[in-house]
Amino acid sequence: MKEVVLSGIRATGNLHLGNYFGALNKFVRMQNDYDCLFFIADLHALTTHPDPKTLHSNVKNILAEYLAAGIDPDNATIFVQSDVPEISEMYLLLNMHVGIGELMRTASFKDKARKQLGIKSENEDIEKEIIGNESNKRVNAGLLTYPTLMAVDILIQKANKVPVGKDQEQHLELTRRFARRFNSFYGVDLFPEPANFDFGGAPVKVPGLDGSGKMGKSEGNCIYLIDEEKVLRKKVMRAVTDEGPKEPNSPVSQPVENLFTLMALTSAPEVVQQYRDAYADCSIRYGDLKKQLAEDILKITLPIRERIIEIQNDDALLSRVVRQGAEKARERASQTLREVREIMGIKKFY
Ligand code: ADP
Ligand code: TRP
Repeated sequence: MKEVVLSGIRATGNLHLGNYFGALNKFVRMQNDYDCLFFIADLHALTTHPDPKTLHSNVKNILAEYLAAGIDPDNATIFVQSDVPEISEMYLLLNMHVGIGELMRTASFKDKARKQLGIKSENEDIEKEIIGNESNKRVNAGLLTYPTLMAVDILIQKANKVPVGKDQEQHLELTRRFARRFNSFYGVDLFPEPANFDFGGAPVKVPGLDGSGKMGKSEGNCIYLIDEEKVLRKKVMRAVTDEGPKEPNSPVSQPVENLFTLMALTSAPEVVQQYRDAYADCSIRYGDLKKQLAEDILKITLPIRERIIEIQNDDALLSRVVRQGAEKARERASQTLREVREIMGIKKFY
């Protein structure tokens, strides 16, 4: 039997190159060798209060982007999280075995809670702020239990492999912990412990164009798969660099290293080498490097963009895909939920 692979992306906007190289591209490469399920996490998106009017169109966007990037719905199961109500029920059940403390210590929770409370400093005692806050600002319980919901997404399908970017590893670690805890508390062997998945190498971190850390929606430094050619070229040409190397073999600054990293993902190895050599002997012209980079990114994104636009308007196709996906996802989910209820002692009288 093939191993089960599951992954999802929150429905919070369009997909960017970080999502593509960190997640989507791996999904496409895995679909032939594993029993794959890929979903759109609309319930997780609710933790940060999206505009109800845009949530549905965001789900639709990501669905079209999954298909446009090459996920084949007859090969992999594609579904929307909220179409599988078993997930919500198991989320309630699993929460009985999750500690408030361990959730509060999760890095992503602390980050988002800080944002929701408007706290700038990393040093401030956010636990006190969360508990003692009398104002209108509050941190919602859904945000706290985000890792429980993610663990349920994974465990309800008994997934073995979860392809995600580096930023999700802590959530995956919690999932393994919850699986072990449930198994040992009830003396069962129900849940496998899921592992991250990468084709060899370390999980990728795609940098942004602003010279700093990772490419991310909330960072405003993204190249989107749906970007028009002109917009994309402009973004790349405006990427942060430095004054250029003054001496041969100078160390490479972070903003320029970021461009090399993007190039390594999108351009041929000899092209990357050519620009690295030009940097080393001080003949590099950042304008040329950016033009080349934009060209190579466009070779990947433009065909995807065309397909997204085509698919986005094909409501019949989109409905067929998610209906078929929900059916398949619910098969295993309802089986696991039945087992969990039984193990926890919830039985029907009738
Ligand atoms: P964002 O950070 O833009 O909000 P998400 O958190 O929705 O993106 O991430 C969806 C998936 O894409 C996750 O598997 C995540 O690890 C991956 N991902 C997001 N940004 C990057 C990045 N810059 N590099 C690598 N992977 C990324
Ligand atoms: N937390 C993930 C993210 O922000 C999205 C997600 C939700 C997920 N449930 C999942 C990823 C289950 C993998 C498996 O990107």
